[in-house]
Parts: sequence; C-alpha cells; structure tokens
Amino acid sequence: MSASFSIDVALSNEEHTRRVAAILAPALAQAPLPFVIFLSGELGAGKTTLVRALLRAMGFGGRVKSPTYALVEVYVISGLNLYHFDFYRLKDPDEWHESGFRDALTDQAISLIEWPQKALGAGVSLPPADLEIALSMGPSNDARQLRLSALSSQAIRLLQPLASTLK
Ligand SMILES: Nc1ncnc2c1ncn2[C@@H]1O[C@H](COP(=O)(O)OP(=O)(O)O)[C@@H](O)[C@H]1O
Ligand SMILES: [Mg+2]
Repeated sequence: MSASFSIDVALSNEEHTRRVAAILAPALAQAPLPFVIFLSGELGAGKTTLVRALLRAMGFGGRVKSPTYALVEVYVISGLNLYHFDFYRLKDPDEWHESGFRDALTDQAISLIEWPQKALGAGVSLPPADLEIALSMGPSNDARQLRLSALSSQAIRLLQPLASTLK
C-alpha cells in the first residue's frame, strides 16, 4: 500500500504549534491501535514540544519529560496508552533489548517516536509509521515548517478531514 497524503503548515510560533496539536489530538484519540508516529527534524526543531502539546491537548496534566535518557516515557490518558520514544542517544541495540520496553513497540498504543532513524541505524527494528511528522526550522527563530504525512489508509482517513482546519 503506497497511498499517502500530506499537509504542510507554516508554524509562526510555539503557540501556533500548540494550536495544531490541539487540532490533531481529538483525531489521534480515535486512531486504530497500534498507531505509529515517526517524528523527524534536527535537534531543537520542536518534536518534543509538539508531543508535549499533544499530550496536554489529550488531557494529560502531569509533567512531560523528554525521554532522551529513559528511551521511553509511558502515558495513560483516559485508558489510552501513549508511548513517547526518543532514540537519539541509542548506539547499542543491546541497551534497547535490555530496557524492558522492546515489546512496547507492538502494544495496543499510540507510539510517538523521535529519532526513528537512530533506532534503525542501531539495528532495532521498528514497525512502519502510520504518520510521519516532520519539523524543520523556519524563516525566524520561532517559525517552523511542519509536514504531516499520512502513510497508511487509517492515517489518511484521520488526517484528510483536518486539512482545511490546519491550513
Ligand atoms: N514554533 C515552534 N514550535 C516548537 N518549538 C518552538 C517553536 N518556536 C520555538 N520553539 C522552541 O524550540 C525548541 C524545541 O525544542 P524541542 O521540542 O526539545 O526540539 P526537539 O525535540 O525537536 O529536539 C524549544 O526550546 C521551543 O521552545
Ligand atoms: Mg526531543
């Protein structure tokens, strides 16, 4: 299945990023599980900021830590499991295999994965992404370019109705 659908949004500042997260959150809450999201973009592009805003918009009121050292942070929001992975630091696949989280990737959860290419490069296999969220630097300090790419038919169904609201 190679169908895909993408939406580009020029984010003017962090508040705009949070607004986009608030639009995405209710759609994600309806996603068929497992649902896998890859986040791409350089350090500081805003991946963790976007995940934090999504968790908040989905109703999580606690502290959202960057999982750079823990590799994964787990959230349960109204019975829905959300896993936030960050493979930035991962060099050794054994570290992942010994983390106790290796089966989390196939759980009935929404998995948000920062630096998936580092996991793949370290020999950790990941499920294919339903949705890719790509962030890159924009024309000013607080501007970012966002591209949402739906890569599965389920993701296309979730994203397509949001296109006009996100623009
Ligand atoms: N429009 C924006 N969207 C997201 N973050 C922004 C934006 N503008 C500025 N920032 C800042 O950029 C940084 C992004 O950091 P972070 O989310 O940790 O990036 P990453 O996880 O991609 O390394 C934060 O300091 C955040 O305040
Ligand atoms: Mg990050």
